[in-house]
Amino acid sequence: MKPKKQHEVRAVCNVVGDLLGAQAAASVVVDLGSGKGYVPQWLAAALGATVVCVEGEAAYTASAKKRLAKIVAQIAKREPDRAAALDAAVHHVVARLEPDQPCPPLVPDTLASAASTTVLMGLHTCGDLAATVMRSYVASSFHALALAPCCYNLRTEAGFPLSIGVGAPLADAGVVIGGNERNTSVHCVHKWADAQFRENELVDRIEALFVRAAAGYMATAAAASTSAPLPSGSAAIWRDDALATARRLAPDADPTHLAAHYDSLVSAAGGSEELAFARYSALYTLLNVLAPVLEMMFLVDGAAYLHEAGIHAQVREVFDGILSPRAHMIIARRSPQAPPHLPSLAAGRVTSES
Ligand SMILES: C[S@@+](CC[C@H](N)C(=O)[O-])C[C@H]1O[C@@H](n2cnc3c(N)ncnc32)[C@H](O)[C@@H]1O
Repeated sequence: MKPKKQHEVRAVCNVVGDLLGAQAAASVVVDLGSGKGYVPQWLAAALGATVVCVEGEAAYTASAKKRLAKIVAQIAKREPDRAAALDAAVHHVVARLEPDQPCPPLVPDTLASAASTTVLMGLHTCGDLAATVMRSYVASSFHALALAPCCYNLRTEAGFPLSIGVGAPLADAGVVIGGNERNTSVHCVHKWADAQFRENELVDRIEALFVRAAAGYMATAAAASTSAPLPSGSAAIWRDDALATARRLAPDADPTHLAAHYDSLVSAAGGSEELAFARYSALYTLLNVLAPVLEMMFLVDGAAYLHEAGIHAQVREVFDGILSPRAHMIIARRSPQAPPHLPSLAAGRVTSES
């Protein structure tokens, strides 16, 4: 596991461990979008929880099973009973959850009676999966929710807004959160702020992004037009790099046209590459300043949606933002009076199963 994943797994396991409390060994945790199973395997091995890993990709489930088998074999050398218990505590379901569709139960009935605490969780649930997890939680009677959303750029109208509290004011003001806003929300402000203290690193990064952005512009402009002004060839700092990237993005485009579009970009910025770069740096700074505001809007929307369903929810910064840019979790609990039986997931259609 890379240091980023180690950090995330440790932090999420602490959050889920707190939610399970002293009841961990009699708990059931369902992890939606469980990937290779890092978190559920740890919860089962270290806390004795029963876990259900729900994953849409069969290949990830196969890797998770392989990883679990290795851990079980390792433990079996010294503690065979513990190894057998761990093996029995981890369940896998291959299922792709679709937003706003009902789905059959994903948790075996036999686990229901034994569970004292039930937690629904998701670590880095990309795009609309985070919304599906929250809808599933509201429609179920799981005691608690621990959710770290990511990839807001992939959210669709099915995944945002979820709440009246955020959705209604946006609609009243005629504000549409479109592709630009969603893309902005995933900028990594912590990394940007951190890199400011190492001047060259920040400049290198902005240069690389500038080249990529210029290449994207060149490829798009070349696709949209049949003619372009002749390249002037006067701009020389980043032009070759941008042209090389643009040629990868648009292999069928005429290289002369691509180069000409770079020159028109520079000329629109006042005629010098330095000016074009300075403009891009200012834009990049602005995007980084706006990113946490937009990200928080997605997070608050999720927490407001849960509040509107009568569930106590909070947004908490759980990860180190430099190691793991999507650093927040939505953590929710039903009242202690909630029925202790294990629910089925009532939302999210399963389109494939094994
Ligand atoms: C960013 S990965 C995180 C994996 C894991 N939770 C972790 O942190 O190591 C997101 C996972 O969610 C799965 N996934 C995404 N959309 C899904 C859906 N609609 N239904 C089921 N799984 C989904 C992906 O296949 C992927 O394994």
